[in-house]
Amino acid sequence: MLRGKNILIGITGGIAAYKICELIRMFKRENANVRVVCTKNALNFVTELTLQNLSQNDVGVEEFDVKNYKPQHISYADEADIMVIAPATANTISKIASGICDNLLTSIACAFRKPILVAPAMNCNMWENPVIKENLEKLSTICCKILEPENGFLACGYEGKGRLCSLDKIFKETSAILLNHQKNKKKYIITAGGTIEDIDPVRYISNYSSGKMGIALADEAYFQGNDAVLITTVDVKRPYKIVKVKSAQDMKLAVEKEFDTADFVIMAAAVADYRVKNKAEQKLKKTNDDELTLTLVKNPDILKELCNNKTHQIIAGFCAESENLLENAAKKIKEKGCDYLIANDISRQDIGFSSEYNEVTILKRNGNRKTLERAPKSEIARLILKEINE
Ligand code: PMT
Repeated sequence: MLRGKNILIGITGGIAAYKICELIRMFKRENANVRVVCTKNALNFVTELTLQNLSQNDVGVEEFDVKNYKPQHISYADEADIMVIAPATANTISKIASGICDNLLTSIACAFRKPILVAPAMNCNMWENPVIKENLEKLSTICCKILEPENGFLACGYEGKGRLCSLDKIFKETSAILLNHQKNKKKYIITAGGTIEDIDPVRYISNYSSGKMGIALADEAYFQGNDAVLITTVDVKRPYKIVKVKSAQDMKLAVEKEFDTADFVIMAAAVADYRVKNKAEQKLKKTNDDELTLTLVKNPDILKELCNNKTHQIIAGFCAESENLLENAAKKIKEKGCDYLIANDISRQDIGFSSEYNEVTILKRNGNRKTLERAPKSEIARLILKEINE
């Protein structure tokens, strides 16, 4: 399955390093070419000889090789189709996030311009440390996809989140990225976040959308080797094209600009149905009246207009409901005319707005439905893309 694919595995100094021997075997069984680079600390847990035998390749540890005129970190980076850093310690994550290149592994990561999968493993208190969280977020702004650790019993004796995710997950994610890259590139437009409709220069009307669902979809489209354009109301840095917008009208213009050349459009943004009729140029002053009336006018329905004007694009909308989810979604897919409508219940605290998780039912134009059980938004995104590509 992976013949001709070059996988570079980066091992850092955590106890889970021993598990990576089996991961190498899993890739080798699929005929991938595997190279291993490890930090000196990783060699406290696993030997160079073992890694060399399993990968059937030299193992990179030292940054400077006098026998080779080519800088090693560049040749490793150029040769590989993907880099998998597992286990990734808090130390290595933080170094890469800060652009520190003080060993072969971190230097390669800095020079790497293809997808990097990062599978952290550490003590649960280290995982919860806000500095580490911030550094992981920074890694997402380059070509890195984070495979979050799992809950469980940790080698340090603690119980909590920090265990290396399953080798099966690392194997599947790596294979999916490598195999999807073989396909033709598609262009995805994805919207994210809640639109902001100004009342005056100080106040606005908006909603609780964090943009997480839309960002997860754009990340997934990008990691599958596609061109992603994320049109978003929230600040985010990513290696693909980001268009920052504010109001529904801005979003409409930005989407329309990209629409003709798009293959897929996914409207995950929470777009305001109404905006303030006459936005005040100056801050509204408090008066003696107990009430203030704002007049709202309808915003354009971006999704509906796109569906009316589509030529070849596949268009998916989202449907956010606080009651009668599937009934309302069935009406909405007809009203909007989209190919797919992805319904989620925004009255639940454990999914939907701002949550890291979602649970959705995908409605198709022909009346078919598919429910995706509660899962991290990255997983829901992967399954949504799979569904709309079938
Ligand atoms: O951002 P998160 O915190 O991760 O939360 C994710 C989410 C709950 C915002 C997301 O999963 C979601 O449901 N997005 C759609 C929210 C919404 O606007 O739903 P709606 O049912 O009001 O609209 C239906 C569809 O029409 C949506 O695709 C919307 O983008 C689109 N629309 C709505 C109004 C409008 N004027 N123009 C539009 O294009």
